[in-house]
Amino acid sequence: MDRIIINGGQPLSGTISISGSKNACLPIMAASILTDQNINLSNVPNLEDIKTMSKVLTSLDVEVDTSKANENKITLKYLNTGKSIAEYDLVRKMRASILVLGPLLARKRHASVSLPGGCAIGARPVDLHLNALAKLGAEFKLDRGYIECSAPKGLKGEEITFPTISVGATESLLMAATLAEGRTKLNNIAIEPEVIDLIHCLQSMGAKIEITDQRTVIIEGVKELFGTSHNIISDRIETLTYVIAGALTGENLKIENIQLEHVSNVLEIFKSLNIDFSFNNSSLNINKTKIFQGIELETREYPGFPTDMQAQLMVLLSKANSESVITENIFENRYMHVPELNRMGANISVEGKKAIIKPSEKLIGAEVMATDLRASVSLILAGLIAEGETVVNRVYHLDRGYEQVESKLKNVGAVIKRV
Ligand code: UD1
Repeated sequence: MDRIIINGGQPLSGTISISGSKNACLPIMAASILTDQNINLSNVPNLEDIKTMSKVLTSLDVEVDTSKANENKITLKYLNTGKSIAEYDLVRKMRASILVLGPLLARKRHASVSLPGGCAIGARPVDLHLNALAKLGAEFKLDRGYIECSAPKGLKGEEITFPTISVGATESLLMAATLAEGRTKLNNIAIEPEVIDLIHCLQSMGAKIEITDQRTVIIEGVKELFGTSHNIISDRIETLTYVIAGALTGENLKIENIQLEHVSNVLEIFKSLNIDFSFNNSSLNINKTKIFQGIELETREYPGFPTDMQAQLMVLLSKANSESVITENIFENRYMHVPELNRMGANISVEGKKAIIKPSEKLIGAEVMATDLRASVSLILAGLIAEGETVVNRVYHLDRGYEQVESKLKNVGAVIKRV
């Protein structure tokens, strides 16, 4: 099994280019089921999760042309044969596989999708997807680990208010409603940039979707959707992760190919921590910050502070000049990186949803274990500033969501290798 070894303490200087957003790309790939025509995607990150989604879609008879994957381009074409079963062996690798359910129901009126796996963070149920699809007329039963779904009379538009905000459930319903009969109104939707990117792609396929206010969207069902070409947005979580790397150890580190409008909410918070950066529309320049302020903050749905940045922020806050408190509101059990960071000399305690981060003078390299995607990158960040050698085990989590992390860091001066 691969491990990453880092010798900490090197300044990072040069340019890091940000990849396309995995979380935007996955639902857009699933949306290929909504049309028989070609979906040409560019700025597609070369990542394990994208490969897993390609396999899920291939098993459902989507032709996925990956011959230009090295240029970050793929083409998908749904052959619309009879297949509508997403098997356990594929779905268990990635929770986002559930995103094929809505499109399959809309096109085939039937789908059988294994209950998903994915990162081991909390219970992560799919009830919000199922309850909302049921309101459009779908019926469900659980059979030997598979969700068996059908909509014998097709899907029909409805008004749905999500009881809590969910990125995935919003995406499922957006896709299903594009081909439903009549008008669907969705209230209390997620408005993450990745959701908006899906809406833009669906619109370019011919869907009639209008965001009417902050968290409400209206979809007028259409008879068919068409092929399109779509450029995936830049990954805001990858961007912010490298901003933290730069704040910890940058010397004029440039981060390019960013979408400033998607990260400005978090950059405002970073400013209040004293992080030293400047930016223009598509790049950021960042230097090591001498003294960080401690902070009290909560993870929230966009435009709040993203749960996907919580682990990385914790590394930075362990170098602050005063105590910090983070409250994790989105996922239970998302503090599995804390014991590993503490083994490197951090001083973090967890009380329920709260993590209290006390300043620690220095981090010291150790052998640590990655437990999920964002936890693994937080250990890499810790390794970059730790004294001596850090060995990060189980880096397959990292490969699910960070494109070429070692070479991107190595190119700007980190001493990092994979063995
Ligand atoms: C997406 C992102 C993930 C990010 C998360 C929150 C993708 C592929 N993944 O995940 O990186 O951390 O948004 O920003 O885009 N929930 C239910 N029932 C459901 C669905 C969700 O209870 O049917 C709960 C979840 O357990 C969680 C909360 O709702 O507590 C938010 O989850 P959700 O927004 O759906 O996250 P994902 O779409 O899975």
